Amino acid sequence: MKTQPFPIEQIRQDFPILRQSVHGRPLVYLDSAATSQKPRAVIDTLVRYYEEENANIHRGIHTLSELATADYEAARRKIAAFIHAPDPRNVIFVKGTTEAINLVATSYGRAFVGDGDEILISAMEHHSNIVPWQLLCEQVGAKLRVIPITDDGELVIEEYQRLLNPRTKMVALVHVSNVLGTVNPVKQMIEMAHAEGIPVLLDGAQAVPHVRVDVQDLDCDFYAFSGHKLFGPTGTGILFGKEKWLDSMPPYQGGGDMISTVTFEKTTYNALPYKFEAGTPNIAGNIGLGAAIDYVEGVGLEAAGAYEHDLLVCATEALQAIPGLRIIGNAKEKTGVISFVLDGIHAHDVGTILDTHGVAIRAGHHCAMPLMARYGLAATARASFAFYNTRDEIAVLVKAIDEAKEVFS
Ligand code: ALA
Repeated sequence: MKTQPFPIEQIRQDFPILRQSVHGRPLVYLDSAATSQKPRAVIDTLVRYYEEENANIHRGIHTLSELATADYEAARRKIAAFIHAPDPRNVIFVKGTTEAINLVATSYGRAFVGDGDEILISAMEHHSNIVPWQLLCEQVGAKLRVIPITDDGELVIEEYQRLLNPRTKMVALVHVSNVLGTVNPVKQMIEMAHAEGIPVLLDGAQAVPHVRVDVQDLDCDFYAFSGHKLFGPTGTGILFGKEKWLDSMPPYQGGGDMISTVTFEKTTYNALPYKFEAGTPNIAGNIGLGAAIDYVEGVGLEAAGAYEHDLLVCATEALQAIPGLRIIGNAKEKTGVISFVLDGIHAHDVGTILDTHGVAIRAGHHCAMPLMARYGLAATARASFAFYNTRDEIAVLVKAIDEAKEVFS
């Protein structure tokens, strides 16, 4: 059977911002790992929500509140289906990956981690999967242990096996690295942790926009991701948790909606997932995230992944051919993220010059300073792709890098 070509022109029409010019050049947006652009369907959902049904949820008995609550809970069901969670009760709305990990570190940590225990992370974690655990370790006297990586940017699995021990109370691991693009062998690593009775949290911020995530197949205990990298609004995100953990963890924040009854003597808590959702949430945003998931499923995550892989191969070959350019992160399994350094030019200067060509990339430590230290670098330039990018844009990137080199020659 002949496969259909990926409908890139049609897809680009769905993203109004991509029609812009920057410094008189067509925008080439290669910073989707920082945040993705939003399709018209998501933007329209936000406008419709505020124009037609804005109200608080789970509280009002009036029509607008019922409409807003129904749409909010429909979004939760869509997200549960998207990651194949057993039930919407396992899906907690949070501000983003950072809040999801802070929730687990604080709440799970309070219940299950003590003096002398260990939390195992990896050398390629984002600060949001380092600092919350460090805070916990400081509070309870636990220790942070780190799985090393190879020069190519792959985890050393033998070292991981060696580090797992009866004191390990959590493995907290990035699914896809925001700097290296490495897709970690998380299913195998979860099996290894579970064999020792250790739960696993995955930071899926860079994974969900690119690879199909099935939390039941992975058998992870927690899975965190952000809506804004998945073509949804900023300030949205999800914590998936297995019920056995969520039930046994204390609430993260206290306030409205997370309670069942309150007296000055004692408060009882609401059922899952509301026990972890104190205060008025980002109602419009989370409904918008539901629309983003509808959009992504419409495009087809698998077709988009294959298209992005082709872009990655094309961009890797083109960048490798530039003299003086070194790619940081050459794992066998990668998503569309290419970090690089150029001889004699600081990454920030690369970013600034590329911007004058209309090319948006990120430059800096990418909130992964220990990883930068591992490579002996202060910063890299990073181009990251989504399914709305094209081979022509890669050609623009290469030309802009060539010109940056000329400026500094
Ligand atoms: N974590 C995001 C990035 O890698 C912001 O750019």
